[in-house]
Formats: sequence, C-alpha cells, structure tokens
Amino acid sequence: MQKFISINQKIDRLKKKIIYVPGDKSLSIRFVLLSSLTKGKCIAYNILKSDDVLSAIHNIKKLGIKVNMKKFRCEIYGNGLFGYKYKKNLILDAGNSGTTARLLCSALIDTNYPIKIVGDKSLMKRDMNRIIKPLKSFGVKFRDNNGKLPIFIKGSKSTKPINYTENLGSAQCKSAVMIAALKTFGTTKIKSLPSRNHTELMFKNVLHVPIKFKNRKKYDFIEVKGRNEIKPFNYKIPGDMSSAAFFIVLTLLSKNSELTLKEININSSRIGIVKILNMMGAKIKFLNKRNYKGEMIGDIFVKSTKNLKAINLNSSLNSSVIDEFLLVFLVASKCEGVSSFEKLSELNQKESKRLDWGIKILKMMNVKVIKTKKQGIKIWGNKNSLPKKKYIIKNYLKDHRIFMLSAVAALSLGGNWRIYDPNSFKTSFPSFKKILISLGAKIE
Ligand code: S3P
Repeated sequence: MQKFISINQKIDRLKKKIIYVPGDKSLSIRFVLLSSLTKGKCIAYNILKSDDVLSAIHNIKKLGIKVNMKKFRCEIYGNGLFGYKYKKNLILDAGNSGTTARLLCSALIDTNYPIKIVGDKSLMKRDMNRIIKPLKSFGVKFRDNNGKLPIFIKGSKSTKPINYTENLGSAQCKSAVMIAALKTFGTTKIKSLPSRNHTELMFKNVLHVPIKFKNRKKYDFIEVKGRNEIKPFNYKIPGDMSSAAFFIVLTLLSKNSELTLKEININSSRIGIVKILNMMGAKIKFLNKRNYKGEMIGDIFVKSTKNLKAINLNSSLNSSVIDEFLLVFLVASKCEGVSSFEKLSELNQKESKRLDWGIKILKMMNVKVIKTKKQGIKIWGNKNSLPKKKYIIKNYLKDHRIFMLSAVAALSLGGNWRIYDPNSFKTSFPSFKKILISLGAKIE
C-alpha cells in the first residue's frame, strides 16, 4: 500500500476550468440522522459518499434503519421518532466523525439500554463534555471517560426541555441540543453564539417541525417544540464549501488561473473563507445564486490574484471559516505584511490540533509565525518567498484537512513534498485527488 504521495511540481495555469465538488458533509450527515427519525422513505440526491457520512449510515443501520445506497441517490426508511430497534450491549463506532458522534448521542436520548459509543484514535481524543453536559440536563445518563469516548449513554423516555446557552460557537453542540429537543415534550430554548445554521434551516424548511429562530446582536435565539411526528422528505445536497475552499485557494495562489466551482452551498454561515480572501484583495464572485429549502446555492468564480494584502481579523467570522482556517494561514503567508487572527482555540478541538499544525507547517515553510497569548496567530507574509527543497508532512492522527492543505501548498507554492496518509482525504472529499489530477496536477 502506498504510504505517501509526492508532489514536486507546481500546477500549471488552470485555464477557465469548471469543476463540481461532492455534496456538503454537514448536510449529508444531517440528512442521514434526521431521516432516520422520520416515518417513511426519505431520498437524498448528491449525498457525500465519504468515510464520515458512511460512519453515520453504518450506525443508523445498527439501530435497525434500512438504507439503500444507489449510484445517484440514497434512500433511508425512517421508523418514526422513537423507532430505533437494537439489542443489548450495542456498540456504535463513529470513526473519525465528530459530527456523527455528537449528533448520534442526541438521537439516542431515549435509549432503553446503555449504548457504547467509540471512535478512531483522533475522535477518542476529542471533547464530548460539550454535548454530555446539556444532554444530561435533559435527563440522560452518561458514563464517560473524563468527557472523552468511549462513552455509555442511557436514555430516558421522559426527558425534560432545557434552556441552554452555547458559548463555543459550535454548530455541533447547538444541533445536538436541537435534535434532543425533537424527542422531548415542551419547548427547548437555545441561546447560541452564531455557527452554521443548517439544522435550523432543515428543521424549518424540510422537516417542518415547530421552530423559531432569530439573531439578536451577539447571539442566535432558537426555540424547538418537540414530540411531533416528522414526515419523510427528499433533499438534493449542494456542493461542500469546505471542499471547494481547497480549489479556491489553489487558483488564487497559482499564476494565470481561473476556476468556476458549480452548485456550492454558499450559506452565509459557511462563506467566511470567501469574505476573508476578498478582504485580502481576491475578487471571488458568487454567480447564479438561488435559494433551495432555505440554503443559498451558487457558483463560485475565482482567479489568480497577485497583490494580496495582510489583514487583522477579529473573531467575528471564526465560526464561518472554522474548517478552512488553515487555508487562510497559507494565503496570509503569501500576503505582503503581517496578518493576525484572534481566538482560535476551537481549531485545536478538531480532528487534530489544527492551530498547532498550521503553525508547524508555516514554520517548515520558513514563514515567521507566532501564537499569541489569546490563542491567536500572527503571520509575517512574503509574496516573494521561495519554497524550501524538501517537506515531509506526517500528521499522526491522519487529519484529512492537513493532508489536503499540504497538497494545495505543494501545488501552488512549489518545492518537493512528501505527504503521508494518502487515503485520509476520503474522510470528507473522496474525489479530491481525482479532481486535482483532472486539473493537471502531477501526483505520484
Ligand atoms: C460541523 C460543525 C463544525 C465543523 C465540523 C462540522 C457540523 O464543528 O468543524 O466539521 O456539521 O455541524 P463545530 O460546530 O463543533 O465547531
């Protein structure tokens, strides 16, 4: 088996290319888990067939839900809001997927027998307290390993609605509480720092459950009324902004290039990367915008930009660029001037410690970078810096986004790169390598 890929050549000009990236991961996992709670047949088109989504599917199957994965659609036969069927001593494995682990727990708040939840080496290191705490206030019991997996969850048939304040800016925490609210009599009230709002939009426009949400200054306020039967639904999943971002940055940093990415989810809670790059001087445009069941979908047009400038950013956009920050660091290293970013501690809560890894990779590239006291970062950019000869990237937790970031850095900045864990991108973006090769990348 191949242990690493080698990239030793920059990508040539991307001339007026058009690409599609696969379906959005957040929406795909939400489709899987939410359709398992309906009564009847749900269909998703363009579902992402990545390891994280397959983990979610694998687990609902273990809960007695029938799933037919066809070439162009995924059919899921929900058994009702309380319809999971399983034997005692069930173990569910969320693999690498934090979203699956956290949202699955909330779908299990009524379980009769304790269910054990495990994950891979990376997921076992991640914080589960952030959802254990609010789910406990619904009346659910947990046995956990200091807030880490493995955890045992033992539910209750008479959970009580809660008032919950979400202060991390985490869509996973907010969504976990919202899904638990679906199974609970009464109204659950959430006050949440802004984060991706796909669950709110799906509840309102797809599941048609009683939900109210509004934004007031710093916080979003959400109310969900539970215990309503959910009718089956169909959903066409748009392209993933987090996957598109790799190609946006590749085009921006390569010479004489232009790229259009078709049918991407450009929901305002997901486009921090585009807003930030445009602040740095890029001229990325959204075209053919349309609304689909509350989500905004559009094409993205991007071209090479020579004179990118440094920026000082406060934390207000952080949650809308949470999975793309490493790409922002890479661009900042090619901007004239010193860029700074604030309050990035959540980056170290991801599949690996991404803030630390970002710093490590930039240092490897001879970029001057420091971590500030308030978990921020300062990057001294230099648009004329030349690549070092050799880079070896070996992320021992096999973080898919570290792998893809490194490939983009190699193809846009040059140098000789050896990047380990050549299958890690299948976690979120199984066609990543294929698309790169179709654009002319030489990957050995
Ligand atoms: C996700 C939310 C984000 C993101 C993750 C997917 C989701 O995590 O990093 O990849 O689908 O809700 P947090 O909300 O915990 O920051």
